[in-house]
Parts: sequence; C-alpha cells; structure tokens
Amino acid sequence: MAVSRVDGRDKVTGQARYAAEHPAEALLYGVVVSGTVTKGRIASIDPAQALALPGVVEVITHENRPRLRSFDLFYKDMTAPGGSPFRPLYDDKIHSSGQPVALVVAETFEAARYAASLVRVTYEVEQHETSLVEHMERSHKPSRLKAGYTPPPEPKGFADEMWDKAVVRMEGEYYSGVEHHNPLEMFASTVVRGDDGHLTIYDKTQSSQNSRWYVSHVFGLSKDKVTVRNPYVGGAFGSGLRPQYQLALAVMAALKLERSVRVVLTRQQMFSFGHRPETIQRVRLAARPDGTLTSIIHEALAETSRNEDYVEVVVNWSGQLYACEHIRLGYKLVALDRFSPMDMRAPGAAHGVHALEVAMDELSYELKMDPLALRLHNYADIDPTDGLPYSTKELRACYQQGAARFGWAKRPLEARSMREGHELIGWGMATGMWDAMQMFARASAVLHADGNLVVSSAATDIGTGTYTAMCIIAADAMGMPLERVRFQLGDSTLPVAPIEGGSSHVATVGSAVQGVCEKLKKSLFKLARKMPDSPFASAGFEEAEFAGGGLRLIAQPAHGVTLQAILASACAARIEEKYMMLPNMLKQQKYLRATHSAVFVEVRVDEAFGTVRVTRVVSAIAAGRIINAKAARSQIVGGVVWGIGQALHEETQSDDRLGRFMNHNLGEYHVSVNADIHDIDVLFVEEDDRIVSRLGAKGVGEIGQVGVAAAVCNAIFHATGRRVRSTPMTPDKVM
Ligand code: MOS
Repeated sequence: MAVSRVDGRDKVTGQARYAAEHPAEALLYGVVVSGTVTKGRIASIDPAQALALPGVVEVITHENRPRLRSFDLFYKDMTAPGGSPFRPLYDDKIHSSGQPVALVVAETFEAARYAASLVRVTYEVEQHETSLVEHMERSHKPSRLKAGYTPPPEPKGFADEMWDKAVVRMEGEYYSGVEHHNPLEMFASTVVRGDDGHLTIYDKTQSSQNSRWYVSHVFGLSKDKVTVRNPYVGGAFGSGLRPQYQLALAVMAALKLERSVRVVLTRQQMFSFGHRPETIQRVRLAARPDGTLTSIIHEALAETSRNEDYVEVVVNWSGQLYACEHIRLGYKLVALDRFSPMDMRAPGAAHGVHALEVAMDELSYELKMDPLALRLHNYADIDPTDGLPYSTKELRACYQQGAARFGWAKRPLEARSMREGHELIGWGMATGMWDAMQMFARASAVLHADGNLVVSSAATDIGTGTYTAMCIIAADAMGMPLERVRFQLGDSTLPVAPIEGGSSHVATVGSAVQGVCEKLKKSLFKLARKMPDSPFASAGFEEAEFAGGGLRLIAQPAHGVTLQAILASACAARIEEKYMMLPNMLKQQKYLRATHSAVFVEVRVDEAFGTVRVTRVVSAIAAGRIINAKAARSQIVGGVVWGIGQALHEETQSDDRLGRFMNHNLGEYHVSVNADIHDIDVLFVEEDDRIVSRLGAKGVGEIGQVGVAAAVCNAIFHATGRRVRSTPMTPDKVM
C-alpha cells in the first residue's frame, strides 16, 4: 500500500498544533537565561533590573525555586542513561556551556525575552576539559549502566594474532565530529493549569508517557494530576527521547506561580543539551589473498558527560555483519565537561558502521578486489558472534538488486579513472545495518454504531507516519476502508505505548493495533451469529471474513452483513476491546534481528576546489514487510539526506579554550539543503519477518542513514584516490 499521510491536511493547513501552539488563558511566558561559562559555580545572580521591567512576574533561579523532596531524591526519566541526570536550577554548580541558570517569567514573551537579557550573573570559573582528543588517556569502560545496555561481546578467536601475521591487512583511525539534532520544531512545553491544579502539558517529546512519568517523579505529582500530550511533533530524531530542561522549568514555574506557563527554547539553546557524541575509532582488518576475512578488530572511544555514562555501543555491528572467525571489539568512554550526549538517528551505528564500511573499502583496494565482491565473499549467513540465525536477512538481494539498479558492473576497479571536465567521478558502496526491535504496548479499539473505528495507543508520530501506518494496519485487519478508521495517539492517558525510538514503533504499536482488531473481530463475529437468520449461525470464525466494511462467508461472499448491522442488532452504540502486546522474548532471543541495506553512491568532485556533489544514490533496503510504501520511501530518503549531511556538512565545532560549541545556529551548522540533494532511488526487498512482529514488519527510518556516509567516503576515494578518514568530508580534507 502507498498512501499519503492521513494527518497531511491538518499539517499543511495549520490545524495541527505543536507544543508551543496550544492556547491557554492568562498564559505566562518563560525565557531561559543560559550560562556563559563551562565549569564552575554561580557566584551571584542579580534579577533586580529584570524584575523592574513591566510585565515581568518572576525570575526563578536555584536560590528561589520551589523546594521539593522528590526533586532531590527521584530525579529521573525512563530513558536516562546510568548516572545522575542534569537538574535545571538545582544548585549553583555549572556543568557545561549554555546550562540554564534562570527562567524569566512574564506576561508577554517579548517582556520575558528582554528581561532575560537583563539578569546579571557572575561566576567562579573552574578549569574545564572538553577535548576528547586531549583527554583520551583517561578513558573508562562504561560502568554506570542503564538497563538494556549490551556491552561489546567477548573476543572471539585470536583477532590480534591473526592481524599480526596477515599478508593482506589494513589499519585505519576514524574521527567523527559532534552533530546536533536540528528538528524543525523548537523544544517547547506549554503547561496549562486547571482551576483544580491539574496540569495538562503539551510537550515536544517522543513519548507523552515518559514526560508524564518524569514530571510525576520529579515534582511529586500523582498520575491523575498530570496529563502530557504530544499529538504532533515536528521532528526529533532522538532529541525527544529524554525530557528536556524546558519541561522541568515550565512545570516549576507553573507550580510556583500557580499559572499556566509556556517555555520555548531558542535554536541556539537547542545546542546546549545532548548531541551525537564525538568518536575516535580504530579498525584493523585482515584477509587471505582470496578476500576471506581473517580478523576484525574495532575499538571505539566516545565522549560522555561527568554525570552520566551515555552509552551507544558503536562497535557492536562489526561483530554482526561479516563472517569471520576472529573478532575483537572494544568500547570506552571519556567523561568531559559537556552536557550528556544523547541518541541521534541510528545511535552508534551511524558512526560505527561508517568506520567498518570505510575500512572494508580500504581492504578491498589492498586486495585489488571489487568492494561489493569482497562483501559478498564474506556474507554472514549466521550471526558471526553468537552463531544465531538471522530472523530474516535479504541483504544479498539488496546487494544484487541495488547493484543492478545502479549499474555497478560497469565500475572500473582503479581509483581516479573516471572524469568529466573538471570533475572527477567516483562510485562507492557500503552496507548498512540497524537493530529490529520490538517493545511492549497496549491498544484499544472502539467500533461505533455508525461503523467508524477509533483505535488508540499512547504512541507518538514525530513526522514518521505513525498515524497513517496504524490506520492502514487497523483498516487492513478489519477489512474496512481507510477513511473509516481514526487513530489516536499523543496523550499520556491512552493505553501504554513505548517511546517512539529505535525504528520500533510499527513492529510494537502496529502489532498491538493488529492484536486489538483481531479481538474485536472475534467479538463482532459472536454478535453476528446471534443475529436473526444469521448466515453465520452454524459457521466457524475461520469460515467468515471481514471485508468491504462488513462480515461475510468466504464460501458465499454474497451472504454478509455490515458492521453497522451487527451493532444495531445487538443494540450496541459501541463495542470496545483492549489488547496487550508482549514481545515473545523467548522466541526472539534465538535470532539476530536486524534490518539491512546496500547503498551505492556516485560522487563528482571538483578537482580544483575539492567540493563534492553526491549526484546519484541507490539505497536497497531489507526491513521486513513495508506497511506504507510511500511513507517508508520518505523515511529512507530522509535518512539518505542526513547521511549526505553526515558525510559532507554536519559538525558542531568546539572551541576548547572556551569549552563551547561555536556554530550553534543553522547559519553556521551546515545541514544538507535542496541544492545538495540530487537523485535518490530507494528500493525495498521485502521480508516477512514473523519473529520480529506478527505483522512481518521490522521498521524503517534509522536504517536509511546507516552506511550512506561510508558509501560517499568510498566514492570520494574512487574518484580522487584520496582517503578521508574523518567526517564531515569538507573540501579542505578532500582537496
Ligand atoms: Mo531514535 S535516535 O531512536 O529517535
């Protein structure tokens, strides 16, 4: 199926409201004052000038914030890594550059913003350490662990000995700079306070229930005192997995002032929390002359903050991609005076698979072997680390179909052998891999007397197409037209759903939706049997089918009833079912569950300037059954665009003398723009993976980005003969 988004009209007509757009009576506006030093303590805060301004209601700081026992004891969110989360306005300590030091609250946004510039803060400055490269020697193994963290597997075989004595081998060190999330929608929270003190919070988050849980714990408010809603989210990419500090500040102000409050961060302030961590990776590969891999060694060093161990196990995919007897993987962190890093689209894999896939390309030149042939030669039919079978794996078909579509067979082996005018042309490829996860979710379904179906779950749609996918799944399960189905999400009071993360929402919430529809069908069938002169009176459930908005006998399709007629006959205004979907972990853990991709790229490099154009991309994706081909393609295109950004544009530069990210705006933090994007061709090799989900679907999104930057790097080498081992590959490095 390929349908346009069901929420598209609301979005393009402005009907869809985002976190900062929900109205409230007598709303107050909070503006955050950001700290100007990187480490130390606040010596003094003088709010007098700000408070003197007409319309300013309060300046909240660590000195006058409400005292809350829970703020001291239970500060956490469900997605926090191990360690102790940052608490805004907790005390006088400064942990990282741009940390919020005050919230100015006023009757108008303009007054709050101006007043924020009048708050005088002085600091006692301490020496900071923000350079990963300079402080590599004090790395540590992640210790403050979060549940679900998978450490790198124990070494297999004798990877170092095999590498030492290998005839053909490579060694490379790869550097990836910091990247920041730049979703269109600013981080914002609108806290609407009811007369009874109930808080309804519109928050920019990837989980209304996580934000609700967090607010309850941090402020000691019971579940029925707080509702969080996020019906529309304008992109997040991982930045909305954790509640951000504007939420805590808005709630703090609403409680202290007993008013409704909105806090919106600026684009610059969105560079002051969380980012994709800087990494340094060392990869060593060895092979026999025929291309058989004999050793994979991959070690990564990444940054974390002083207070938390943010973990994304950069190297793990290197033990899951290629058949090899000798594998050693290592992962360490360096704690810096920066805000904790956080998940960003394909966390870990975006950098880790990049290094491995560039290394594989380097090895292919050592072997004088076609890079695709090298990958096919080492194709893994079982999990190279644990020996588990893959739940499904159509990567070979991705390689073959992607290569055919791209015209890979015509590629000359030698680097620097194609040119047109002043441009060198190169063709490169890489493999992508991402986890296929399923979490726990509930759903409810209500069929109304008019034959319309409303399905609900506290899921999220960060722009990825959840509304549409769930409507498709429900309509398909019920055999009814899409227009008669509505899906409700984005409200913490709806049935439990997980965060929208890890490309797992379709496999998770979709399975719950299908499950609740199956239950509803059984109830409807029972009612249909009781109808006067029912054609189903003596039929079994399997002998009937739901189709065309009704129920009919499979053998006699003319004998049927509408769903409205079933409800009318039962005198029911509505029928409701609830369902709980628990992943079958016992079955799932017997398989390696992953999505795969093969990415083929053409670049044109200006020989004089070193500028790179990515003129052609073919991305072949194996991600289970595809629910909505249109949305899935859009997800992959988006991932490829971001992969091009990772390859050529995106990096937040730190001035370590100041300990601060300098290009904290969209003028100087470069993302790919329209002129950077040319031909992107997406093809799906469908799998029917009933181990990952009852739908056969795995999930798309993150897989679209993984491997793209590596394919660009490999194409640049093929064009120029120059290997760029750090991202982004800016002209100064390519020239
Ligand atoms: Mo994603 S980084 O799981 O939003």
